[in-house]
Amino acid sequence: MIGKDFLGLCDATAEDIVTILDTAVGMKRLLTQNLKKLPHLQGRTVTTLFYENSTRTRCSFELAAKYLGAGTVNISASSSSVQKGETLIDTGYTLDAMKNDIIVIRHPMGGAPHLLAKHVRASVVNGGDGMNEHPTQALLDFYTMREKFGGFRGLKVAILGDIKHSRVAKSNLFGLTKLGAEVVLYAPATLMPQGIGRMGAKIARSREEALSGANVVMGLRIQLERMHGGLFPSLSEYARYYGVSEEHLRFADKDCIVMHPGPVNRGVEFTSGVIDAENSKITEQVLNGVAVRMALLFLLCKNRQGGSGNE
Ligand code: CP
Repeated sequence: MIGKDFLGLCDATAEDIVTILDTAVGMKRLLTQNLKKLPHLQGRTVTTLFYENSTRTRCSFELAAKYLGAGTVNISASSSSVQKGETLIDTGYTLDAMKNDIIVIRHPMGGAPHLLAKHVRASVVNGGDGMNEHPTQALLDFYTMREKFGGFRGLKVAILGDIKHSRVAKSNLFGLTKLGAEVVLYAPATLMPQGIGRMGAKIARSREEALSGANVVMGLRIQLERMHGGLFPSLSEYARYYGVSEEHLRFADKDCIVMHPGPVNRGVEFTSGVIDAENSKITEQVLNGVAVRMALLFLLCKNRQGGSGNE
């Protein structure tokens, strides 16, 4: 059951995930008909509270809320009273006092959305917390996979890149294993978190093994901002030994799709040829992100005390 908040896929059930994906199908239909003045969230307010940079997540939550008729407010930590020493919880109380309904938060500290959710009346959505989770990114990834393959059972999803620092990898792993897909990870040993195999992932010993027969080839960004040096010799060496080119893609299933949460480091995780190939879903993922976030905001508002989202 989707409750007051949406904090991660670690605690979500397969049914929760499928409910959001099913709701997103209708939202994408509306989007593709260019219907962007919908009544579902009329009278509601959605605030994005971002303590880290973002293009896709923040923009798509704002557009999703606007398309459904909600009022929106954007707060960046760099331009807010956080700079004057205000705490996260006091910021939450301030938004509550203004009758805000939903806070979408991105924060460099894992667990920050969970802390905020315990203290505020508003529904809290995790827009990415440190190296912990990025659940709505994983939901849009699942939507993109289901749209292509119809389901998850028997799918091989190869995830290559900076697994250690990636909240996207963790949310994908939590969700995909619940949905019945096989998740295979490949990274330099220094970018592979210890114990991830116990969470249901298979660790590949080579790029070829990871890609062999894969239905989905997902690259993850090398997160230089979370590294403190020395995890691999250079970006060009990373690209040579761990990056994916069109030649490497020949190991994957012939109907495979290529995915990346963005932002992409062109020529590092994937060559430009892979990023721009016909089977690349990277742009489609962005569109699906709006549909999935519309669905999630709608379902959360429906659950809130004081009435449903307007059908
Ligand atoms: N995929 C993702 O979270 O992108 P942004 O950092 O641009 O939001």
